Amino acid sequence: MAKILVTYFTRTGNTKLVAEAIFEALAGDKTLKIMAEAGDLSPYQLIFAGFPVQTHSVPYPAEIFLKTIPEGKKVAFFSTHGSVTGSQLSREALEYASVLVAKAKLVGTFSCRGKVSMKALEILMQSPEHEAWADMAASAATHPDASDLEDARAFARWIVTIGTQGHYQGL
Ligand SMILES: Cc1cc2nc3c(=O)[nH]c(=O)nc-3n(C[C@H](O)[C@H](O)[C@H](O)COP(=O)(O)O)c2cc1C
Repeated sequence: MAKILVTYFTRTGNTKLVAEAIFEALAGDKTLKIMAEAGDLSPYQLIFAGFPVQTHSVPYPAEIFLKTIPEGKKVAFFSTHGSVTGSQLSREALEYASVLVAKAKLVGTFSCRGKVSMKALEILMQSPEHEAWADMAASAATHPDASDLEDARAFARWIVTIGTQGHYQGL
Protein backbone atom coordinates (compact mmCIF):
# COMPACT_ATOMS: atom_id res chain seq x y z
CA MET A 1 0.00 0.00 0.00
CA ALA A 2 1.27 3.51 -0.86
CA LYS A 3 2.75 5.59 1.93
CA ILE A 4 1.26 9.08 1.87
CA LEU A 5 2.61 12.27 3.42
CA VAL A 6 0.43 15.31 4.07
CA THR A 7 2.65 18.27 4.85
CA TYR A 8 1.99 21.98 5.10
CA PHE A 9 3.33 25.39 5.91
CA THR A 10 1.03 27.83 7.67
CA ARG A 11 1.31 31.21 9.30
CA THR A 12 -2.17 31.68 10.78
CA GLY A 13 -3.66 28.17 10.74
CA ASN A 14 -5.89 28.17 7.63
CA THR A 15 -3.71 25.80 5.63
CA LYS A 16 -3.41 23.54 8.67
CA LEU A 17 -7.20 23.11 8.72
CA VAL A 18 -7.15 22.04 5.08
CA ALA A 19 -4.21 19.69 5.74
CA GLU A 20 -6.12 18.04 8.58
CA ALA A 21 -9.21 17.58 6.40
CA ILE A 22 -7.12 15.97 3.65
CA PHE A 23 -5.39 13.74 6.17
CA GLU A 24 -8.70 12.70 7.71
CA ALA A 25 -10.07 11.65 4.30
CA LEU A 26 -7.15 9.36 3.51
CA ALA A 27 -7.11 5.70 4.32
CA GLY A 28 -4.06 3.52 4.88
CA ASP A 29 -0.45 4.38 5.66
CA LYS A 30 -0.47 8.14 6.14
CA THR A 31 1.58 10.77 7.98
CA LEU A 32 0.76 14.41 8.78
CA LYS A 33 3.67 16.80 9.42
CA ILE A 34 4.55 20.45 9.15
CA MET A 35 7.04 21.04 6.32
CA ALA A 36 9.84 21.96 8.71
CA GLU A 37 9.59 18.49 10.26
CA ALA A 38 8.78 16.43 7.17
CA GLY A 39 12.23 14.78 7.20
CA ASP A 40 13.23 12.15 4.66
CA LEU A 41 10.77 12.05 1.75
CA SER A 42 12.05 8.87 0.15
CA PRO A 43 9.57 6.48 1.87
CA TYR A 44 6.50 8.27 0.45
CA GLN A 45 4.85 7.50 -2.88
CA LEU A 46 2.46 10.47 -2.73
CA ILE A 47 3.01 13.85 -1.08
CA PHE A 48 0.23 16.37 -0.42
CA ALA A 49 2.02 19.71 0.06
CA GLY A 50 0.12 22.80 1.25
CA PHE A 51 0.95 26.49 1.68
CA PRO A 52 -0.79 29.87 1.77
CA VAL A 53 -0.47 32.28 -1.14
CA GLN A 54 1.83 34.97 0.08
CA THR A 55 2.65 38.13 -1.84
CA HIS A 56 1.43 36.46 -5.08
CA SER A 57 3.71 33.51 -4.56
CA VAL A 58 4.82 30.58 -2.42
CA PRO A 59 6.15 31.50 1.06
CA TYR A 60 9.92 31.08 1.17
CA PRO A 61 10.01 28.15 3.67
CA ALA A 62 7.52 26.26 1.47
CA GLU A 63 9.54 27.08 -1.64
CA ILE A 64 12.64 25.57 0.00
CA PHE A 65 10.68 22.44 0.93
CA LEU A 66 9.15 21.98 -2.54
CA LYS A 67 12.59 22.10 -4.12
CA THR A 68 13.63 19.09 -2.01
CA ILE A 69 10.91 16.79 -3.39
CA PRO A 70 12.75 14.02 -5.19
CA GLU A 71 12.43 13.44 -8.91
CA GLY A 72 9.54 11.18 -9.90
CA LYS A 73 7.49 11.56 -6.67
CA LYS A 74 3.75 12.07 -7.02
CA VAL A 75 2.78 15.43 -5.61
CA ALA A 76 -0.58 17.13 -5.00
CA PHE A 77 -0.76 20.78 -3.93
CA PHE A 78 -3.29 22.49 -1.71
CA SER A 79 -3.25 26.18 -0.98
CA THR A 80 -5.28 28.84 0.78
CA HIS A 81 -5.56 32.44 -0.36
CA GLY A 82 -7.37 35.64 0.54
CA SER A 83 -8.32 36.42 -3.06
CA VAL A 84 -11.44 35.12 -4.79
CA THR A 85 -11.38 31.43 -5.75
CA GLY A 86 -10.64 30.91 -9.43
CA SER A 87 -9.07 34.33 -9.90
CA GLN A 88 -5.61 34.63 -11.41
CA LEU A 89 -4.51 35.94 -7.99
CA SER A 90 -5.53 32.68 -6.36
CA ARG A 91 -3.69 30.56 -8.93
CA GLU A 92 -0.36 32.29 -9.33
CA ALA A 93 1.34 30.60 -6.36
CA LEU A 94 0.19 27.18 -7.61
CA GLU A 95 1.63 27.96 -11.02
CA TYR A 96 4.95 28.90 -9.50
CA ALA A 97 4.90 25.86 -7.20
CA SER A 98 4.42 23.58 -10.19
CA VAL A 99 7.66 24.93 -11.65
CA LEU A 100 9.47 24.18 -8.38
CA VAL A 101 8.52 20.50 -8.59
CA ALA A 102 9.00 20.18 -12.34
CA LYS A 103 10.88 16.88 -11.95
CA ALA A 104 8.17 15.36 -9.75
CA LYS A 105 4.76 14.24 -11.05
CA LEU A 106 2.08 16.79 -10.22
CA VAL A 107 -1.14 14.81 -9.86
CA GLY A 108 -3.51 17.62 -8.85
CA THR A 109 -4.12 20.92 -7.10
CA PHE A 110 -6.73 22.24 -4.69
CA SER A 111 -7.24 25.72 -3.33
CA CYS A 112 -9.74 27.54 -1.18
CA ARG A 113 -10.00 30.90 0.48
CA GLY A 114 -8.54 31.60 3.91
CA LYS A 115 -9.28 34.50 6.21
CA VAL A 116 -6.70 37.25 6.48
CA SER A 117 -6.12 38.69 9.92
CA MET A 118 -7.33 42.29 10.34
CA LYS A 119 -3.87 43.36 11.35
CA ALA A 120 -2.35 41.87 8.21
CA LEU A 121 -5.07 43.46 6.08
CA GLU A 122 -4.46 46.91 7.49
CA ILE A 123 -0.75 46.66 6.80
CA LEU A 124 -1.22 45.16 3.33
CA MET A 125 -3.77 47.78 2.22
CA GLN A 126 -1.05 50.39 2.67
CA SER A 127 1.14 48.83 -0.01
CA PRO A 128 0.08 49.47 -3.61
CA GLU A 129 1.35 46.04 -4.73
CA HIS A 130 -1.09 44.30 -2.37
CA GLU A 131 -4.18 46.39 -3.10
CA ALA A 132 -5.47 44.10 -5.86
CA TRP A 133 -6.06 41.12 -3.62
CA ALA A 134 -6.32 42.85 -0.23
CA ASP A 135 -9.53 44.51 -1.43
CA MET A 136 -11.08 41.07 -2.09
CA ALA A 137 -9.79 39.60 1.14
CA ALA A 138 -12.54 40.94 3.41
CA SER A 139 -15.01 38.40 2.03
CA ALA A 140 -12.65 35.54 2.89
CA ALA A 141 -13.40 36.08 6.58
CA THR A 142 -15.43 32.89 7.05
CA HIS A 143 -12.96 30.58 5.25
CA PRO A 144 -11.93 27.87 5.21
CA ASP A 145 -15.50 26.86 6.06
CA ALA A 146 -17.18 23.46 6.36
CA SER A 147 -17.84 23.34 2.64
CA ASP A 148 -14.18 24.10 1.79
CA LEU A 149 -13.06 21.33 4.13
CA GLU A 150 -15.52 18.88 2.61
CA ASP A 151 -14.16 19.81 -0.84
CA ALA A 152 -10.62 19.20 0.47
CA ARG A 153 -11.64 15.73 1.67
CA ALA A 154 -13.17 14.96 -1.73
CA PHE A 155 -10.01 16.24 -3.43
CA ALA A 156 -7.88 13.91 -1.28
CA ARG A 157 -9.98 10.88 -2.21
CA TRP A 158 -9.91 11.83 -5.89
CA ILE A 159 -6.12 12.28 -5.87
CA VAL A 160 -5.63 8.84 -4.39
CA THR A 161 -7.76 7.44 -7.21
CA ILE A 162 -6.12 9.29 -10.10
CA GLY A 163 -2.68 9.35 -8.43
CA THR A 164 -2.49 5.65 -8.99
CA GLN A 165 -3.36 6.05 -12.67
CA GLY A 166 -1.24 8.77 -14.24
CA HIS A 167 0.04 12.26 -14.61
CA TYR A 168 -2.11 15.33 -14.03
CA GLN A 169 -2.37 17.50 -17.14
CA GLY A 170 -2.49 21.08 -15.89
CA LEU A 171 -3.69 23.54 -13.26
C1 LIG B 1 1.78 38.89 4.28
C2 LIG B 1 0.61 38.25 3.58
C3 LIG B 1 0.61 38.23 2.18
C4 LIG B 1 -0.47 37.64 1.50
N1 LIG B 1 -0.48 37.66 0.14
C5 LIG B 1 -1.57 37.15 -0.53
C6 LIG B 1 -1.63 37.20 -1.96
O1 LIG B 1 -0.73 37.67 -2.64
N2 LIG B 1 -2.73 36.69 -2.57
C7 LIG B 1 -3.77 36.14 -1.85
O2 LIG B 1 -4.73 35.69 -2.45
N3 LIG B 1 -3.73 36.06 -0.49
C8 LIG B 1 -2.66 36.55 0.18
N4 LIG B 1 -2.61 36.49 1.56
C9 LIG B 1 -3.71 35.83 2.28
C10 LIG B 1 -3.32 34.43 2.70
O3 LIG B 1 -2.94 33.65 1.59
C11 LIG B 1 -4.52 33.73 3.38
O4 LIG B 1 -4.97 34.46 4.49
C12 LIG B 1 -4.13 32.32 3.79
O5 LIG B 1 -5.30 31.57 4.06
C13 LIG B 1 -3.26 32.29 5.04
O6 LIG B 1 -2.97 30.94 5.32
P1 LIG B 1 -2.37 30.44 6.69
O7 LIG B 1 -3.38 30.76 7.78
O8 LIG B 1 -2.19 28.99 6.51
O9 LIG B 1 -1.08 31.15 6.94
C14 LIG B 1 -1.55 37.06 2.25
C15 LIG B 1 -1.53 37.10 3.65
C16 LIG B 1 -0.47 37.69 4.31
C17 LIG B 1 -0.51 37.76 5.82
